[in-house]
Amino acid sequence: MARKKLIAGNWKMNGLMADGIDLAKGIAAEVKAMGKPACEFLVCPPFTLLAPVKKALRGAKVALGAQDAHFAEKGAHTGDISPLMLKDLGCTYVILGHSERRADHHESNELVNKKAAACHAAGLKTVICIGETLEQREAGKAVEVCREQILGSVPDAATAADTVIAYEPVWAIGTGKVPTAADVEEVHAACRKVLAKKLGKGNANKMRILYGGSVKPGNAKELLSLPDVDGALIGGASLKVADFIGIAKNAGCAE
Ligand code: PGA
Repeated sequence: MARKKLIAGNWKMNGLMADGIDLAKGIAAEVKAMGKPACEFLVCPPFTLLAPVKKALRGAKVALGAQDAHFAEKGAHTGDISPLMLKDLGCTYVILGHSERRADHHESNELVNKKAAACHAAGLKTVICIGETLEQREAGKAVEVCREQILGSVPDAATAADTVIAYEPVWAIGTGKVPTAADVEEVHAACRKVLAKKLGKGNANKMRILYGGSVKPGNAKELLSLPDVDGALIGGASLKVADFIGIAKNAGCAE
């Protein structure tokens, strides 16, 4: 099953104008130098940098994504950004339901589902994040938690063309700790089964499931060569051109 790997950078709340533009230009130059990369690239800067990063990426095969969206088209939602506004800025992707948003903003599966449906209706692709806490992992509930999050957060009408899943164990994010390759593959394979039940086998076989949580150039090869791992959602290491590109190269994207 040929699923093109997606190498996605989640910049989180990092970067002022000059750093963001530099980072985007650096990534654009490296991706251009790859010619025809075997992977798809995506960067998700903070809202404030979307427009300048879009400009800095010009001519490079690197997609632009946001880190969240509201479900409404417009209206009385102070501080929020709508899917159409993101589309208007040149975004093609939106990260939704990241564990930091689930924790900091109490985002539920229902809310993530509603946002995802609105993004799809606006023509945006979503990267829907799931993943267990350390407590849940230690209680042997990782697969069960991910199953529930998929069933609740992914719209029933989602397809492999508009949805990417990112499995990010909360305890692996920004900690330098990574599950064993066998544990990662176990969860990814289980997620694909859940997706098959929910969305049909065709969609499940084509849908990309990314791994996220302390992905670095040094562990990229092992993690991204697992059969059900179709790319990475990268936080810390996406803020340095050499690390982000190093991950892609070690995952075989430049071949
Ligand atoms: P990390 O973050 O790579 O810094 O662990 C990943 C993420 O939260 O998307």
